[in-house]
Amino acid sequence: MRILLYSGKGGVGKTSVAAATGVQLASLGHRTLVMSVDPAHSLADSFDLGGKLFHGATGEPLEVAPRLWIQEVNIQREIKRHWNAISGYITALLRTSGLGDVEAEEMALFPGMEELSALMYVNQYRKSGQFDVVVLDCAPTAESLRFVSLPTTLDWYMKHVFSFERKLFKAIRPIANRVSPVDLPPEAYFQNIQDLFGKIEGIDQVLEDAEVTSVRLVTNAEKMVLRETQRAFVYFSLHGLTVDQVIVNRLFPGEIHGEFFAGWREMQTKVLAEIESYFSPIPISRVPLFPREVLGLERLGEFARTLYGEGVDPSTVTRTERPYQFVREDGVYQVRLKLPFTEKGEIGLFKKDDELVVELGAIRRHIGLPTSMSAMEPAGAHMEGNMLIVEMRTS
Ligand SMILES: Nc1ncnc2c1ncn2[C@@H]1O[C@H](COP(=O)(O)OP(=O)(O)OP(=O)(O)O)[C@@H](O)[C@H]1O
Ligand SMILES: [Mg+2]
Repeated sequence: MRILLYSGKGGVGKTSVAAATGVQLASLGHRTLVMSVDPAHSLADSFDLGGKLFHGATGEPLEVAPRLWIQEVNIQREIKRHWNAISGYITALLRTSGLGDVEAEEMALFPGMEELSALMYVNQYRKSGQFDVVVLDCAPTAESLRFVSLPTTLDWYMKHVFSFERKLFKAIRPIANRVSPVDLPPEAYFQNIQDLFGKIEGIDQVLEDAEVTSVRLVTNAEKMVLRETQRAFVYFSLHGLTVDQVIVNRLFPGEIHGEFFAGWREMQTKVLAEIESYFSPIPISRVPLFPREVLGLERLGEFARTLYGEGVDPSTVTRTERPYQFVREDGVYQVRLKLPFTEKGEIGLFKKDDELVVELGAIRRHIGLPTSMSAMEPAGAHMEGNMLIVEMRTS
């Protein structure tokens, strides 16, 4: 099963791209599920299903065309199904701090639950084999980053906090239940957490496997949008996911004339060049602004043909290499960068704001640095095979 994850800033066109991709995949014969991971679901709207009662109704996959299903994860229902003991305990805990029932229940929905539910589904579908491709329509960037980091966070939590908590509570339960104003979590709480964890087991490897999971960043040719796209790129790379395409949506087509749009067109051309130099060698796809909203199967199909080309399969694996990695080895921070060909003498390195700039002949690569490295300077570089290893140190 292939997993295609579409992420980007709010409003750039993620849902339209994800839905259109689904239409093209299904038309090429793949059993495709487009799943919305965004709590503010708009997938059904994109397919123009207004007449059908779909929103939150069941949260199950709904067939919208031959071999094409869509699913909007229904968080309330998921919680009832998987998290009764956990949310029950948290609600009770919040209630003792003076919150009303409804408020306590609302607060017990901690951030990340939506994403966690989606990950469970992805894992389940991977095991059941009922779909060939799962397309994920993500919430705006911050949430989709949480989505990919969740398995790591949970893994850490399970290893370090959970086993400790469990032992501790076992030991103190006999005394604490008599004196504590708050009940300790019941045993079911621990069992529930363990079951939950079991449901997403292995998903981190799946997300990091470039043969399975590809991230596509959707952006507009605007400076502010680009900045966020760059941050997302750094973050996905940091988490070991492979970005294999950048989609620039809503480009003003050539037939738009007039002074008012001339400025916009000029700005888009400039930002587009910046996008190309920043993300190279990742392929950039361009989609024009259409004369109307992209709603319904037919327009989504047209959108997909413009984006991918007629008959081109969007699930083909095109890139399996992450362009760079960040590592810490023996206390030294490194940026590792695959270079196609080179000798050390030709490489130029410098820092610009929070980016590391690598120059190699006419090629220039901007590498956004993660927060942990943003205050550092390149201190030296060497080649290992075709890998350039840049050492970063605090200046
Ligand atoms: N290239 C385009 N031409 C014309 N309209 C477009 C284009 N791309 C997207 N739209 C329209 O823009 C609106 C927003 O798009 P969409 O919902 O896909 O964005 P999104 O990134 O998913 O937003 P959100 O962050 O709110 O989830 C929709 O009405 C969609 O039909
Ligand atoms: Mg959306």
